[in-house]
Amino acid sequence: MKFTTFLTALFIIAAGCTETVEQEVTETTFEHSELVATVMPVGDSGVSGSVTFTESEDGVAIQGDFEGLEPGNHGFHIHQYGDCRADDGTSAGGHFNPAGNNHGAPTDMERHMGDLGNIEANEEGSANVDYTDATVTLEQILGRGIIIHAGEDDLESQPTGAAGSRVACGVIGIAQN
Ligand code: CU
Ligand code: ZN
Repeated sequence: MKFTTFLTALFIIAAGCTETVEQEVTETTFEHSELVATVMPVGDSGVSGSVTFTESEDGVAIQGDFEGLEPGNHGFHIHQYGDCRADDGTSAGGHFNPAGNNHGAPTDMERHMGDLGNIEANEEGSANVDYTDATVTLEQILGRGIIIHAGEDDLESQPTGAAGSRVACGVIGIAQN
């Protein structure tokens, strides 16, 4: 009788394990077609806005509007961490770079996944972004950071494009749609 009880217990444990594995497989299915980041000022920069990332035929459509910028070009990147706690935005880490590539332009074959180039602010300090990126995947950028920089990304200096300090920071989350 004791042995039978032992076997029954083993069976229950084995069945439990199978269930856990099946659940894990189900949870890795990525079901979100739009992500969004609200971008807030770092310190007293006054820079804010929002950007969406939407699944499309040719990649991920990236569309956003920003204000409070100095006129001119500003580096615009996905950074490793969705963490805007630091006063200077450095808690977001470096450019998101899952492939271990060099820094580059959004159109380069070799680039960080987070290299979205520059946004150009007009005389009123407004900028927008609207292009489709074939490198970015929604699954990989969910929960990571968006950073706007004080200066221009030269699209070649390693590892950051020499874009200077961070003036706005946001976290990429799941959009309600
Ligand atoms: Cu950056
Ligand atoms: Zn980069």
